[in-house]
Amino acid sequence: MNNFEFKNPTKILFGEGQIENLSKEIPKNSKILMLYGGGSIKKNGIYDQVKEALSNYEVVEFGGIPANPEYSVLMKALKLIKNENIDCLLAVGGGSVIDGTKFLSAAALYKGDSPWNLLTDNKPITEGMPFATVLTLPATGSEMNSGAVITREETKEKLAMGGPGLFPVFSILDPQVIRSIPQRQLANGITDAFTHVLEQYMTYPTGALLQDRFAESILQTLVEVAPAILKDPADYNAASNFMWSCTMALNGLIQQGVPGDWAVHAMGHELTALYGIDHARTLAIVGPNHYRYNFESKKVKLAQYAERIWNIVEGTVEEKANIGIEKTEEFFHSLGINTKLSEYTDEYSETGSIVSKRFTDRGWTGLGEHKTLTPSDAEKIIEMSY
Ligand code: NZQ
Ligand code: ZN
Repeated sequence: MNNFEFKNPTKILFGEGQIENLSKEIPKNSKILMLYGGGSIKKNGIYDQVKEALSNYEVVEFGGIPANPEYSVLMKALKLIKNENIDCLLAVGGGSVIDGTKFLSAAALYKGDSPWNLLTDNKPITEGMPFATVLTLPATGSEMNSGAVITREETKEKLAMGGPGLFPVFSILDPQVIRSIPQRQLANGITDAFTHVLEQYMTYPTGALLQDRFAESILQTLVEVAPAILKDPADYNAASNFMWSCTMALNGLIQQGVPGDWAVHAMGHELTALYGIDHARTLAIVGPNHYRYNFESKKVKLAQYAERIWNIVEGTVEEKANIGIEKTEEFFHSLGINTKLSEYTDEYSETGSIVSKRFTDRGWTGLGEHKTLTPSDAEKIIEMSY
């Protein structure tokens, strides 16, 4: 097991009715900016619940943060933060609203020229304006981690930022919010969380027995609850297990002491930036081919995964590993997720070389757990995914 230091300061309030407790967690004289997305919270009652819980506070609102939070929209919110002397941010939404809020938390205290530098500087963010979240869509884990991914339409870029200053102070996870989530987003959430675990697990053995079993237990839980959630998102027990699995998949715990890959996300973000494909779907397009391409270095973990998640006990390491990849693809298909780029866009023929050039230009010459995946490897993996 590798050495590690682990601190996750985010307080979680989990369960039915927890939105009511917002006022117990936010200091009395705060001036709050409540941030949300395209309006789902106004239809499903979450907006009213939050407003009711904050009735004794001064609250300014900023709605309209789009899926894949857009820099130019966030810059308008930044102006509001400064003009209104806001001192506390509250994200009410999924990963996009939470990530947008994290960016604003950092941008509000940023002293440099352009806040876009927060995404290009590659420096960990050590301070931000305090913020909290009311999660409405389990998927990203953003509610309990310190990362954010921001999109800039102007340049067709999608870049990540983060650091110890960007953990939410607290997050409210009420599984009842899942009732109104459309099938497409439920399938996305399951796929994203599943891939988060794979990015931290499908590498090479390091003798980290407990981390492996944490990871496997999240995968097993997601596989078990997926049909129930898709059938009835109001199934509270399935919803609670789904929600907590998504948070645990990316709150840092399973990453401690083990290598991380994250090349699937790096390639996937480019497909969103270029074609607007939902984040989770880009992972389902790239993931299985990434495992095929890097088969030799990942086959031991692939075989362990096949055995422990899909009960494939017969065959050689190679045979089990191959079945593991096929089972992963079948699982995505069972959620209604297509796994070929050509099923999302007709303009795919140059994608491999475009992504390869972008990685080269950014100096991303060695991705993955061995830091050896070159831009030309990424090009080939994406071409396998057409
Ligand atoms: O905008 P509204 O109207 O609210 O609708 C949203 C949006 O259209 C809707 N929705 C959310 N909660 C709902 C609901 N609809 C009905 N009922 C509810 N309770 O769902 C749509 C998608 O929302 P979004 O926030 O975009 O989805 P998700 O949570 O999947 O977030 C995706 C973003 O997170 C980033 C992705 O790259 C992408 O930009 N990620 C963030 C990570 C992190 N911070 O750790 C890690 C991930 O790997 C990922 O990269
Ligand atoms: Zn993801």
